[in-house]
Amino acid sequence: MSASVAELQRPPAEIRHADELARLAETDQGHRPPGWRLSLQAVRAFVIGDERLGVARKFVGDPALVDRALVSLATSRGLMLVGEPGTAKSLLSELIAAAVCGTSTLTIQGGAATTEDQIKYSWNYALLVSEGPSERALVSAPLLRGMAEGLIVRFEEITRCPLEVQDTLLSPLSERALVVPELGAAGTVFARAGFNVIATANSRDRGVNEMSAALKRRFNFETVFPIPDFETELALVRQESERLLHASGVVAPPRRDVLEVLVGAFRDLRSGVTADGNPVDRPAAVMSTAEAVSVAHAVGLRGWFLRGESGGVADLAACLAGTVAKDSADDLTRLRRYLERQAKAQGDGPWRDLHEARHLLPG
Ligand SMILES: Nc1ncnc2c1ncn2[C@@H]1O[C@H](COP(=O)(O)OP(=O)(O)O)[C@@H](O)[C@H]1O
Ligand SMILES: [Mg+2]
Repeated sequence: MSASVAELQRPPAEIRHADELARLAETDQGHRPPGWRLSLQAVRAFVIGDERLGVARKFVGDPALVDRALVSLATSRGLMLVGEPGTAKSLLSELIAAAVCGTSTLTIQGGAATTEDQIKYSWNYALLVSEGPSERALVSAPLLRGMAEGLIVRFEEITRCPLEVQDTLLSPLSERALVVPELGAAGTVFARAGFNVIATANSRDRGVNEMSAALKRRFNFETVFPIPDFETELALVRQESERLLHASGVVAPPRRDVLEVLVGAFRDLRSGVTADGNPVDRPAAVMSTAEAVSVAHAVGLRGWFLRGESGGVADLAACLAGTVAKDSADDLTRLRRYLERQAKAQGDGPWRDLHEARHLLPG
């Protein structure tokens, strides 16, 4: 499975930002919690950026939230990041894991079909049959490895797992031990310093309310909110879409006016009210910053690969339909109404172009 980093579509954070992590480790003067590679200050600098050290901002959000998250991880409770889809919960968990323990890939993806085997351990059946249960026949899943090696384990979308599977985490988080009964007396793995769990949960999925009270007690909860102001969101969408377009071989940079309209429209549809205070019928689809980035990427791809230029407002209208109207015809109607009334009311230039491009919506 060898490929050069340049060939990877998305290397993990510890590889993407290896230089910054090395630099932070060199200059780090702070106290490190047991088992951590960096101090809290250095991890915070890695996540939210530090100009003095030449470290880029990666997560846009409240520094106090990052501090609370890190303090939670240094305690004996897990960290649960909750919020709307596309608010960078997964990104934040990846960045923190990369900085705290050097690896963000001990990840369990939660889903309806997640099993205990995928969380704790399974067996190499050929060895199990030939020599019986032994350490050699044991195949570690992320939780066992994280405990044995003192690393951060990420549990994505934990609330999508069946409740009894979620509860697999109870004794690892409270006793800090995992029993492998098949191995007899030697079968208890005790967690090393540095082990902890960062879970994420979308507030739109079956909620955290259903999670067992016992498990909830073992986590500190932090809510991640959408980016509050227009300019910050615009800057992020621009930076991320430039990066994605570059990686896709697109030479033309995204147009500022197109991005302004894109971010403005997303914010209107997300909040249900335009910047001037006019009500908007909100679609059921998630209008997150992450979706805005992916629409900006698609717009740039259309412009470049279809015509050899930056994507324009007409491309935006075409791409919006795919995001907003994913699974509901009503959403398409809402989007059409928005382009008919609100886009027109927002003024001239690109907003007018967007209004005029409404016939590009399918159906
Ligand atoms: N506050 C934010 N800071 C940085 N990137 C963000 C932010 N909000 C959204 N994004 C964008 O969304 C992407 C991350 O979405 P993701 O972590 O998958 O969200 P979630 O796990 O909350 O659904 C990032 O790669 C980035 O492009
Ligand atoms: Mg996620």
